[in-house]
Amino acid sequence: MSTRPRISSRISAISESATLAVDAKAKAMKAAGRPVIGFGAGEPDFPTPDYIVEAAVAAARDPRFHKYTPAGGLPELKQAIAAKTRRDSGYQVEASQVLVTNGGKQAVYEAFATLLDPGDEVLVVAPYWTTYPEAIKLAGGVQVDVVTDETTGYLASVEQLEAARTERTKVLLFVSPSNPTGAVYSREQTEAIGRWAAANGLWVVTDEIYEHLVYGGAEFTSIATAVPELADRVVIVNGVAKTYAMTGWRVGWLIGPSDVVKAATNLQSHATSNVSNVAQMAALAAVSGDLSAVAEMREAFDRRRQAMVRLLNEIPGVVCPEPKGAFYVYPSVKELIGKELRGRRPQSSAELAELILEEAEVAVVPGEAFGTPGYFRLSYALGDDDLAEGVSRLAKLLAEAH
Ligand SMILES: Cc1ncc(COP(=O)(O)O)c(C=O)c1O
Repeated sequence: MSTRPRISSRISAISESATLAVDAKAKAMKAAGRPVIGFGAGEPDFPTPDYIVEAAVAAARDPRFHKYTPAGGLPELKQAIAAKTRRDSGYQVEASQVLVTNGGKQAVYEAFATLLDPGDEVLVVAPYWTTYPEAIKLAGGVQVDVVTDETTGYLASVEQLEAARTERTKVLLFVSPSNPTGAVYSREQTEAIGRWAAANGLWVVTDEIYEHLVYGGAEFTSIATAVPELADRVVIVNGVAKTYAMTGWRVGWLIGPSDVVKAATNLQSHATSNVSNVAQMAALAAVSGDLSAVAEMREAFDRRRQAMVRLLNEIPGVVCPEPKGAFYVYPSVKELIGKELRGRRPQSSAELAELILEEAEVAVVPGEAFGTPGYFRLSYALGDDDLAEGVSRLAKLLAEAH
């Protein structure tokens, strides 16, 4: 009998997405009739705007879209993404520098697969989104964490990045606005980091998926535009999911130098071929249209953000800095770890999150999922009433900790 493992070591090293796992558990409890309020989901609670849905319906009826199309994306969508990038970030790109992917996730995977050789190091600011470590690992890369906390609003400095750089560092991952912290780098900070990366010959992979969700005077700055000398070594990841409430449609993209885009397109041509044409035509309507839908969502998110920060900071033991972007808050719950609560003494944020789910029927994602135990991520992309009820349940339960 073969003694070889059934699952390859490469794939068995991948962990389940912790955020999707929390969401699935909350949904299962809900289906079983329990009134769970979920702060786990990373998606807007709005439906996709009608004009986008109509474009998809028309595409489904057009026989041209019943066939294979170019693996790298429909030419008209690539054009529109290049134009949208010039409009929103001021970054000058051609359609040939765009690869249309199956969501931003595939763009993340392909960016690292295309850039990394085994042993190449990637600087990743923690707390980080759960998918990055797995994509880096699959490509044979080595993640080097640059850990930040609430005292700096989860922002990394050039000094911290420099301290983590070695001669094996190839890529800096730059994410602003950030998932899970909502941190947004100012233009000055972005420029300083971009110039440091350029001066050290690093590549920058930048995830701009939350570009339109910034609040209270904060501004989104594309590192590619802010530091033109990076142009030959910058790869942008983006998509329609968060801006147009289109998480289920699965359309994202990668923008980069032509050789990188060509190589990533070769990979995609064997892995998945073209993204569903119907979804691509929906994305075309989205990126060619105006930004009024996201403006409306932003207003609702901003209101919920402020309510959430205020209510969470009223809970003893919870410290919640004000996020400037995306739709998450990332409070510290370190003071609550080890305290007694309903006859138990949770020793980690993961154990505390589990207790909260069981006792208060509120789902939050523990910081362990993002590389920093001692925190929770709560999404405020849920209805106002659920938000108020969920935080009030949390407050009631956590007040019992002693
Ligand atoms: C920071 C970040 N990047 C990329 C994505 C990928 O989005 P999608 O694959 O749905 O386009 C997400 C989704 O949660 C995200 O939070």
